Amino acid sequence: MTKEALCAAAIAARQHAYAPYSSCLVGAALLAADGSVYTGCNVENASYGATLCAERTAFAKAISEGNRQFTMLAVAGSEGNEINGGFPPCGICRQVIAEFCEPDFTVLVVTAPDTYKEYTLSELLPAAFRLS
Ligand code: THU
Repeated sequence: MTKEALCAAAIAARQHAYAPYSSCLVGAALLAADGSVYTGCNVENASYGATLCAERTAFAKAISEGNRQFTMLAVAGSEGNEINGGFPPCGICRQVIAEFCEPDFTVLVVTAPDTYKEYTLSELLPAAFRLS
């Protein structure tokens, strides 16, 4: 799958965002080594801390279906409808990505409907906390 196609899957996943409190619509698409794609959206809650980010929704879907080998993640988020600027993963999501992915793992942040910025996990989370 191309990077552009993974970004398109993340954009499509935003359709399902449940965000009555923030109006931030976030979608994620996680590409597994076997070619499977797991999508996720943010799922908010009246008890704000119970909110799930799109990235963690996608990881939970993959892990719970037995897939733990990942090659790339795309994230598309915005305040309101228009994607302009991009939503890099929050700190908690970066830590969750680090649980399953190597430092050179690729994260694509969609910055407009047809553009993205590319990061490695180590750029987003240097000196990640890991247990041996
Ligand atoms: N959000 C995500 O889905 N992913 C992130 O990495 C950053 C934040 C969501 C959570 C909440 O529903 C909204 O964006 C505002 O924080």
